[in-house]
Amino acid sequence: MSSNVSSHIDPIEGDFHLTNYQKTHDNFSWEDAKKLLSYGKTGKLNAAYETIDRHVDEGYGEKIALHYVDENGTKSLTFREVKAETDKYAQILKENGVKKGDRVFVFLPKTAECYIAILSVIKVGAIAGPLFEAFMEDAIKDRINDCTGSLLITDHELVKRVPQADIPSLETILYVEDIAKEDRTGNHGNELVEWVDPEDGLIIHYTSGSTGKPKGVLHAHRSTVHHIVTGKWVLDIHDEDVYWCTSHPGWVTGSVYGLFAPWLNRATIVIQGGRFKAENWYQLMEDLKVTIWYSAPTAFRMLMSQGDLHEKYDLSSLRHVLSVGEPLNPEVITWAHKKLQVRIHDTWWMTETGGHLIVNLPSEKIKPGSMGRAFPGIEVGILNANGEKLPAGEVGQLAVKAPWPGLMKEIWGNEDKFKSYFIYEGWYISGDLAYQDEEGHVFFQGRSDDMINSAGERIGPFEVESKLIEHPAVAEAGVVGKPDEVRGEIVKAFITLRPGFLASDNLKEEIRLFVRKNLSAHAAPREIEIVEDLPKTKISGKILRRQLKALEVEKQAVKS
Ligand code: PRX
Repeated sequence: MSSNVSSHIDPIEGDFHLTNYQKTHDNFSWEDAKKLLSYGKTGKLNAAYETIDRHVDEGYGEKIALHYVDENGTKSLTFREVKAETDKYAQILKENGVKKGDRVFVFLPKTAECYIAILSVIKVGAIAGPLFEAFMEDAIKDRINDCTGSLLITDHELVKRVPQADIPSLETILYVEDIAKEDRTGNHGNELVEWVDPEDGLIIHYTSGSTGKPKGVLHAHRSTVHHIVTGKWVLDIHDEDVYWCTSHPGWVTGSVYGLFAPWLNRATIVIQGGRFKAENWYQLMEDLKVTIWYSAPTAFRMLMSQGDLHEKYDLSSLRHVLSVGEPLNPEVITWAHKKLQVRIHDTWWMTETGGHLIVNLPSEKIKPGSMGRAFPGIEVGILNANGEKLPAGEVGQLAVKAPWPGLMKEIWGNEDKFKSYFIYEGWYISGDLAYQDEEGHVFFQGRSDDMINSAGERIGPFEVESKLIEHPAVAEAGVVGKPDEVRGEIVKAFITLRPGFLASDNLKEEIRLFVRKNLSAHAAPREIEIVEDLPKTKISGKILRRQLKALEVEKQAVKS
């Protein structure tokens, strides 16, 4: 690849009205962040205390902490009210025997209670395991079993998807409807806070790779330092901001940048339930005067496909927009710049990294097509197969010098997997392929493994294949990401049938719904192709997903 790859792209100059904002953060380092937190004073901390209670103690109790929006309207809570609620939940958790280090899962839709439940688990020193609301039985069972979760906070609707008999460690289920009915005053000072060490467990997110079941990525309380600093520098949060992150806390974006980072910086956050609907999203931004908005390329592309719908809404409050999770097309940046008068700032990171590592800071120019540059204090390297740094312009493995404050603490019960990220001395290997230009801008080029990225959600082909072959009609399955204009990729399954089954559209639909019902909607194949044979390696007979994927990419190229 030529090294002068970015010269044909028009840079979008920095938004200079933002520069003044940014200046106020410029000298704010990891060390400064520690001093703001109890970490810097006592060496101990608690992420839930730092996120909510600290603001009450510092005199901001009456500030609005959240607006919760659903079809019934908007409900708002102050920091004092959120603290009181987390105290109430924390008390109930303690009464149910929850102790430091226990794994407590939260399976709720995107409601205020979901955020409160997560924080209450953390407050008592337990490890929070947030589950995405669309997960079905097997996804839930696999996750809770893997780290032997002992308690679950859910509601009377979602509990129907929890196969309790198959989760032996699960001793207690608490329902938010029942907690709501309990009348307790929740002003407890700090006595419910369990002060922990920076290395103690905070939150566990399950995430997919190309092999095996999802892995439990465990983060420690020290990540708080990463969250508060990137919340200031990258999200550019200030006191007057109304901040909206569209991700569910079951995903790392929804916890780190939907909950921790904005609240550590005392922002008023927006929590919106329900699915994507362009009209509702624009209306919400107008009504609540959202100033900072963090979403994903698929959502931007869906809005872009709505033509001039945005003209019906007053979006003038928006001053800072960010994107994550999948490649952000230059056309989308241009569209937002022209039509919404905003720049979209791409950010790159992963569940394992616990926070932003490659970013477009608000005051810097944007190169459309690039994910940005290394966050100050972070060293990015593009490595060859020997772990040596490649020069600008050459594609290699995207790696980051370890450690940094948000880096995962471990992969639950799987030290080998954890070590596999660190095969080259001193580097964390992301599994992404990329190149850097002379100015340090990083350009994403794809994955080096078979992981699928659909609408920014990470899907492991193995998990989908395993589910497919549980269907009586399916003999073998190979699952790949098929390029898609709106979602980046969609899940496509190639299957062979067992003797006695005939290929038909009905059968394909039945198989699709089988995965949807048992695993989850986002991982169910949008396309199924029935084939006679699947390509396999000669020696071990492993299905060659790469060959299936190459076929799909080729078909796409012929069409366009
Ligand atoms: O392939 C990269 C892609 O998403 C992966 C991480 O997925 P996950 O752990 O689910 O975290 C998503 C959000 C933190 C990466 O290995 N990815 C993430 N950000 C970008 C991206 N691909 C292209 N551009 C990005 N900005």
